[in-house]
Amino acid sequence: MLKRLFPYAQKHRKYLMLACACVILETVFELVIPTLMADIIDIGVANSDKGYILWKGAQMIICALLALILGIMYARFAATAGQGFGAELRKDEFERVQNFSFANTDHFSTSSLITRLTSDVTILQTAISNGIRPLVRAPVMLLMALFFTFTINPELTMVFVVVTPILACGLFVIVRKVGPLYRLMQASIDQINTVVQENLNAIRVVKSYVREGYEEEKFKKMNIALRDNSEHAFRTSVWNMPLFQYVMYTTIICILFFGGQMIFEGVMKVGELTGFLSYVMQILNSLMMISAVFLMLTRSIASCERIIEVLDEVPDIHDPQNKDLIVNSGDITFHHVYFKYKTTAKEYVLSNIDMHIPAGSTIGILGGTGSAKTSLVQLIPRLYDVSEGEVLIDGHNVKEYSIEHLRDSVGMVLQKNVLFSGTIRENLLWGNEHATDEDIDWACHVASVDEFIHQFPKGYETDLGQGGVNVSGGQKQRLCIARALLKHPKVLILDDSTSAVDTATEANIREGLATLKETTKLIIAQRVSSIQHADQIIILDDGHINAIGTHDELLKNNSIYQDIYYSQMEGAGL
Ligand SMILES: Nc1ncnc2c1ncn2[C@@H]1O[C@H](COP(=O)(O)OP(=O)(O)OP(=O)(O)O)[C@@H](O)[C@H]1O
Ligand SMILES: [Mg+2]
Repeated sequence: MLKRLFPYAQKHRKYLMLACACVILETVFELVIPTLMADIIDIGVANSDKGYILWKGAQMIICALLALILGIMYARFAATAGQGFGAELRKDEFERVQNFSFANTDHFSTSSLITRLTSDVTILQTAISNGIRPLVRAPVMLLMALFFTFTINPELTMVFVVVTPILACGLFVIVRKVGPLYRLMQASIDQINTVVQENLNAIRVVKSYVREGYEEEKFKKMNIALRDNSEHAFRTSVWNMPLFQYVMYTTIICILFFGGQMIFEGVMKVGELTGFLSYVMQILNSLMMISAVFLMLTRSIASCERIIEVLDEVPDIHDPQNKDLIVNSGDITFHHVYFKYKTTAKEYVLSNIDMHIPAGSTIGILGGTGSAKTSLVQLIPRLYDVSEGEVLIDGHNVKEYSIEHLRDSVGMVLQKNVLFSGTIRENLLWGNEHATDEDIDWACHVASVDEFIHQFPKGYETDLGQGGVNVSGGQKQRLCIARALLKHPKVLILDDSTSAVDTATEANIREGLATLKETTKLIIAQRVSSIQHADQIIILDDGHINAIGTHDELLKNNSIYQDIYYSQMEGAGL
């Protein structure tokens, strides 16, 4: 795991090394102080030598000041390294998520990805910023202090032979217990984020159904779960403290007891025992630091694993080696296509799809809810890859085109489409940043959205608000069509994209689309009127092609089409 994240630390090696150097020097200066103190007591005070005391006192102040300055410098370097490390990690995670296919994103929930990009990275970042100091300082301090205690009195130093294993065992038990608890805690944060995110995304639905109370209840449950999990984790890790204090005071009592006896026996001086005790405190402090670092690392490891899961998720849609192939005409063939969303699923969502769509033609796709219309068209721009069989464009498997070129050539207006915050122009240019003003006028005209835009005093510069809240459902759909048209795609897929548009405007859009002679158009619709003029209509039924034909042919021969057609005619009161 460390190996995986090592390259990120490597990039900030300079600051890490500087931070370590500062800590080592700081520790050395701090360690000299007790020796100076022992000298003051044993030599200065014993001989009543004021000059000596002042001289050693000045040395102590200088050492303390230097330690302070080094401590400040350390904090700066460590923060730079930690923040840099975090930024790199977030950048890579984000890039990886951008490369995810739809199938990859289905693995993680959106909110979990957000936690993994923010909270988990922050935990690692903090571990680096706050962890270097104790991690470097503690062993240096421990070794040096042990050396000093040993030089002062080797026998008394033996106390640590007993103390250290007790502490190590206690720490081991705590770390073993607390590790899984931290993982649970991060999972609870995921869940809270899910509730908040879903609630905010659907705030209008929540309000219109007056479900605020229910949502609050849902949030409360998750919040309590997070509280309980965190409490449990911290309650366990906090055992570290009493364990240490207990061992620390016992050690001090033992040393005072044995040390006191040695003073009575005349084998030890008072100053030596005072110095010895200072070092003992430092040893215990460094052991305490080591154990705190261990606990912090345990928490970081939980976050580390979650981050690595994102970094190691293999995008299951790859670019081909040869990227020069170009979509010329937009002729589409499905050859024995089978598809399911998860390899483990028992049943196929699409089965045995064989069809040919000539370039430039208009195809209507009709079928009940869940008949796999969306699933079918998603295979063309490789939003998902087929499970078996192949999808060909211009006679080449879609997998042979570079993903960027393929998706530029296949414009798709998704069923669940979104606009972004910003002006109408910004949103349209998002489809094609190089589009000229004429292009934009043309696309808006074809999508029948031009009149509506010109009603605004600011026209294209009108701000859409977050997620395009300022426009109606039908207007949003038409803006999304215009956005897709700006790419001048060879294949245009409209997945139920005019469902919220009135029939007159829909007819205008249809006329506009008919002028795109060079573009193959696939139109998914619920209304027969939306697709009855298509060159071919595909009837999907539970993932199978039930029939393909023109409106007249299907009306004559196909029972599903007849049912839909007549039920809609009745509905329209005809
Ligand atoms: N991301 C997904 N993961 C797993 N199963 C999915 C996913 N998306 C859709 N399905 C399943 O695939 C089947 C076909 O769904 P699809 O969205 O293609 O239907 P549809 O014909 O477009 O329906 P609608 O008219 O409601 O848009 C459904 O049974 C659905 O449950
Ligand atoms: Mg659909």
